Amino acid sequence: MRKILVTGGAGFIGSNFVRHLLHTYADCQIVVYDKLTYCGNLDNLQDVAERFAGRYTFIQGDIADAAAVGAAMQAHGIDVIVNLAAETHVDRSLMEPDAFLKTDVYGTYVLLEAARQHGVERYHQVSTDEVYGEIPPGYRSLETDPVRPRSPYSATKTGGDLLCLAYHNSFGLPVTITRGANNIGPYQYPEKVVPLFITNALDDQPLPLYGDGRQVRDYQYVLDHCEAIDLVMRHGRPGEVYNVGTGHETENIVMAHAILDLLGKPYSLIRSVADRPGHDRRYALSVDKVRALGWRSSHSFQQAIEKTVRWYVDNEWWWRKLKSGAYLDYYRQWYGQRLAEADRP
Ligand code: NAD
Ligand code: DAU
Repeated sequence: MRKILVTGGAGFIGSNFVRHLLHTYADCQIVVYDKLTYCGNLDNLQDVAERFAGRYTFIQGDIADAAAVGAAMQAHGIDVIVNLAAETHVDRSLMEPDAFLKTDVYGTYVLLEAARQHGVERYHQVSTDEVYGEIPPGYRSLETDPVRPRSPYSATKTGGDLLCLAYHNSFGLPVTITRGANNIGPYQYPEKVVPLFITNALDDQPLPLYGDGRQVRDYQYVLDHCEAIDLVMRHGRPGEVYNVGTGHETENIVMAHAILDLLGKPYSLIRSVADRPGHDRRYALSVDKVRALGWRSSHSFQQAIEKTVRWYVDNEWWWRKLKSGAYLDYYRQWYGQRLAEADRP
């Protein structure tokens, strides 16, 4: 596994994953292939480009463009593809699902075809716990459970997963899939709840909490997730799915209080706003299978949120400029009415 194509490598998890690979393996060559959508950002890889110039290449391209993907594979003699390129925000999938279908379904198909034609050693698909849908209290999703996606985002991610499994079954492509819980940490675009709440709180702006704030998520530190992806890509069995999470459940209101406590800001910044339509109340994963490969999450929720808050406090240069222009248009469109009608929880 020397020449690795990381699609979506300029995004949040992708850039952390690239940094992890280059620091961990002295012999690997990384080609990042990324369209640079609103979420993709070369600032996320600035340190990588400087420090690992000889082992890192960036190509701007769309995973749905078969000719461009094929050219990148050929030019760099790629032997592994890790696909992190996706449209990733549930709320945007409710506003404009079109790009989700093009990237998360059709783009995955293009990459699988390229993997097949070039005879790669491994194709790894980074997927999500959201494919299992809403999980009732007391239960944890197993990799063998039926998929029941409930948002356009999770439906298109499920489509990608099913194509991967079909390519393994039909063509023997050596595919693995990880289904991760919510990631937090450096370089996450400030539309996702944790960086949104941290950066709003730093500016004494309201924190728009959906509904009663009692929805449950497993917030895991991004580097733990990256280590699991790396392990499964190398040692996971082809054709298999691996869940990745801490197994620790946190209600959104508890997450919001933790952020405000760390920043020394008042809980009165929280506003209870109209809920996300079709909002999945709870996700929870069984992670025994990835643990059996030797993976352990290294961060508790408290450690993960502390490191994350510290990073945004220290890296205003990174996020401040993102919260302008098209971001503000999106913010007004999605939150304007919600915040105008908001209550204190
Ligand atoms: P992100 O939105 O931060 O980054 C996505 C990256 O993909 C961006 O750099 C973007 O420019 C790129 N991209 C989008 N469309 C593309 C296209 N057509 N061609 C090439 N590049 C394209 O996302 P993230 O949070 O880093 O998520 C990465 C992957 O991990 C996604 O597949 C997501 O579904 C999955 N995932 C995310 C989480 C999470 O909590 N963030 C949890 C589990 C799984
Ligand atoms: O579970 C894995 C998924 O985690 C990934 O597949 C997705 O790509 C990633 O975006 C994330 O999805 P979520 O919808 O869980 O993340 P988000 O940060 O949007 O929301 C987390 C929780 O916080 C969710 O219950 C909704 C709530 N929320 C979110 C926003 C943006 C709020 O209460 N207010 C908000 O403003």
